[in-house]
Amino acid sequence: MKVQLIFRTARLPVPHRERLADMSDVSLTAIAAICDGNRGIGKNKELPWPFLKEDYEFYTGICMATRDPNKQNGVITGRVGWEAFPDSMKTHPRLSTVVTSTTLSADEPFCRGVARDFDEAVQMFTRAKDKDGVENIYILGGRVNYEHAVTDPRCRRLIITRIFQDFDADVFFPEFDHVFRRISDPDIDDRIREDPVTGIKFRFEVWEKI
Ligand SMILES: NC(=O)c1ccc[n+]([C@@H]2O[C@H](COP(=O)([O-])OP(=O)(O)OC[C@H]3O[C@@H](n4cnc5c(N)ncnc54)[C@H](OP(=O)(O)O)[C@@H]3O)[C@@H](O)[C@H]2O)c1
Repeated sequence: MKVQLIFRTARLPVPHRERLADMSDVSLTAIAAICDGNRGIGKNKELPWPFLKEDYEFYTGICMATRDPNKQNGVITGRVGWEAFPDSMKTHPRLSTVVTSTTLSADEPFCRGVARDFDEAVQMFTRAKDKDGVENIYILGGRVNYEHAVTDPRCRRLIITRIFQDFDADVFFPEFDHVFRRISDPDIDDRIREDPVTGIKFRFEVWEKI
């Protein structure tokens, strides 16, 4: 992760300097799978659609891949999402998770920390003493964290799995096509694919902040 210190921070008191340094070149990416029609992402604390093996492998592959084998990826998730994390993600050596929650205690096991709001969660990866071991910061939901991600200037990319079928949902991804535009990324194959078990069609998309 590149963090660039900007000149005008030099004479500020340390807490202010640290906050401005956090804002300089931190890049956040949100990853979500959404229904094409209603932007549904969740239902009864689960995904609205049946398990899609290829999408799960795509999502975990991105979260767990680092170019530098000595670094981790930071991921930010809400409490409900965290409670649904499989143990393999909670304990994965390449993942360092901050959970946003106002109710979990600070010593929640397996995570890097519990943050009381979105900014505190980002800071847990970007403070000077923390940033060097972190390569990417991914926002993994849920609704409130995605709303922050879409409006926060530090969030420059969305990686979306678009599900070409509508499912009943009780949690929705915010509107984003007024602030992001779809781009082609040579590393991500954006052909429409079909799950062999369910027949559900879906596509991986990359969007960047306009
Ligand atoms: N399709 C996808 O890509 C995708 C991705 C993620 C989740 N989901 C689905 O979405 C649903 C979960 O999303 P959700 O929005 O209901 O739950 P969530 O964000 O995972 O958890 C909600 C709880 O997290 C805490 N929280 C979240 N954001 C916070 C913030 N910025 N600051 C402080 N606390 C915060 C609060 O916990 P406290 O009550 O402890 O304060 C809140 O009650 C599930 O159905 C899940 O399967 C889908």
